[in-house]
Amino acid sequence: MDTKVLTIEEHQINREFIQQAGKFLKEGKSIAFPTETVYGLGGNALDPHASAKIYEAKGRPSDNPLIIHIADMDDLPYIVKEVSEQAKALAKTFWPGPLTMIFKKSDVVPYETTGGLETVAVRMPNHPIALELIRQGGKYVAAPSANTSGRPSPTCAKHVIEDLKGRVDVIIDGGDVGIGLESTIIDMSAEVPTILRPGAITQEMLQQVIGDVLVDPGLQVDKHTKPKAPGMKYKHYAPKAELIIIEGEIDKVVETINQMVLKDKKDGKKSGVIGTDDTIHLYQSQVVKSIGTRKKEETIAKHLYGVLREFDEIDIDRIYSESFKTPKLGQAIMNRLLKAAGHHVIKV
Ligand code: TXA
Ligand code: MG
Repeated sequence: MDTKVLTIEEHQINREFIQQAGKFLKEGKSIAFPTETVYGLGGNALDPHASAKIYEAKGRPSDNPLIIHIADMDDLPYIVKEVSEQAKALAKTFWPGPLTMIFKKSDVVPYETTGGLETVAVRMPNHPIALELIRQGGKYVAAPSANTSGRPSPTCAKHVIEDLKGRVDVIIDGGDVGIGLESTIIDMSAEVPTILRPGAITQEMLQQVIGDVLVDPGLQVDKHTKPKAPGMKYKHYAPKAELIIIEGEIDKVVETINQMVLKDKKDGKKSGVIGTDDTIHLYQSQVVKSIGTRKKEETIAKHLYGVLREFDEIDIDRIYSESFKTPKLGQAIMNRLLKAAGHHVIKV
């Protein structure tokens, strides 16, 4: 397949072009586009063939449901059975934004889009290109993250091109994303609203608006509980090298990592380090990458997937990473990092 790559400036949207891209969506074509969380791979959510194409391009199991992206609140009732007062309050506070809500689906939503489920995930992204594309493309755009299944979600067009060039019709390059981690998912069809995937909208922020919010027990480290979001059960991205998280007071973490790097060197193994702007000068490894700064936790979220991808491009046996239990985004960051590390944590 010939993939067109088109560059658009976020603040100078070429409407004619988006109109064309919207027409493609209506015709059943697949288009990768930027959102504020990660890049998405869009198709017409109400067309079962378009959804099938998305699964195929990503190499994704077809029982793993897609999120439907909308641009206007008025478009929500058509695809869901009921919008509760709580859901309305969350939408009012956090949409457009990095929050996905799960509802009981209406009959117009094909099972191909929901992976056979009676519920549907819906999000209104906060990105001018995404919103315009959705409006021009028939209002309902199913979009999983635009990576091949098993790789980290893409946070810039280069990542999308690496994974999907030749497998999708169009890639819109709208620059780097703002957040870098996928949206928070909250199940509004549960008796008590329940977080199925942590993201930039935290449990505390949700509770401030609607009171009680639970966290799916499947998100705990305990591997015996099955996560409720089907996508959370699949083997997640793991870098080619062994990834180990070192947790504790920062001085001790640095000291431990330096000792381990030295030992690896003696054993003929190559190892690298994920630190921050605040610590990278303290490491004695040949490959040290900064993920951001603890003074601005958003920078850590934003660079996590990119740094993991970079390590896959170099020949290395082990990666040691600091732990990032930062105040607001820490839960979402550690959810992704722990999975990438297969929960391999050394406490010091
Ligand atoms: O930030 C995001 O949410 C990005 C951007 C592109 O919007 N999208 C994204 O989509 O992360 P995806 O497909 O990579 O992840 C969607 C997650 C999966 O874990 C899936 O299992 C879960 O949402 N999900 C979708 N529909 C669901 C449903 N009806 N019930 C439970 N989980 C659902
Ligand atoms: Mg994904």
